[in-house]
Amino acid sequence: MVNSNIDLKKEQQATLNTPRYKYSLMAKIFFAGMNIAAGKKDDLPKAKLLEILASIPYRAWEIRHYMKLTRKFRNINKVEKYQTIIDWGRVAQDNEYMHLLVIHEKMKEDGIKDKWYLKPVFAYLIVLSYVIIAKLMAFFSQKRAFLFNAQFENHAESVYANLVQDNPQWEDEKVTNELVKMYADVDTWADVFRRISLDERDHMNHSFEFCGKPELVHKYEGMPESYT
Ligand SMILES: [Fe+2]
Ligand SMILES: [Fe+2]
Repeated sequence: MVNSNIDLKKEQQATLNTPRYKYSLMAKIFFAGMNIAAGKKDDLPKAKLLEILASIPYRAWEIRHYMKLTRKFRNINKVEKYQTIIDWGRVAQDNEYMHLLVIHEKMKEDGIKDKWYLKPVFAYLIVLSYVIIAKLMAFFSQKRAFLFNAQFENHAESVYANLVQDNPQWEDEKVTNELVKMYADVDTWADVFRRISLDERDHMNHSFEFCGKPELVHKYEGMPESYT
């Protein structure tokens, strides 16, 4: 999955230098809600919450399109289209889950405790709300659901690029954790989080492709092929 030829530092700068996508009102409300729950400052516990939520739409789309596959099995064109969404959704949600594990390992290493909103009862309520939002959005307009997700991913990409900038000590912190090495075979924690930021850009790019806005894809050297 990880292309070692990518210049992660250059891409982090590209993220920092690129203006954020123009967020919809709904996305703005969503990010404001996250700031109310987790605080304005981006840190690892907040990134953990972001990752707990990140896989939800992909899982919702996967289940939804498996059902559509069964209903439309006679129409090969639709079957192929649904299958590409499922394939991407599976890869993306596994990738988001890996991000969650990596952040958890870093927090353990640094002795950072979970904040109140990560306690099971609060996390459950936040997750439940987002499951309902994700399912409703996909039900009313799958295209809009892709677009909303592109905004979520655009936001996530910048959160990680900023975290690396705000934590210069990560440049000297070597990665020794086996699980984290399995995710990305890089030397420093700064590069681990740069790689996560770029994964989020990939998720955004594919979301833009699926919602029919390929012109909004943020290209870079060594990026994965299109899914659509
Ligand atoms: Fe992620
Ligand atoms: Fe993502």
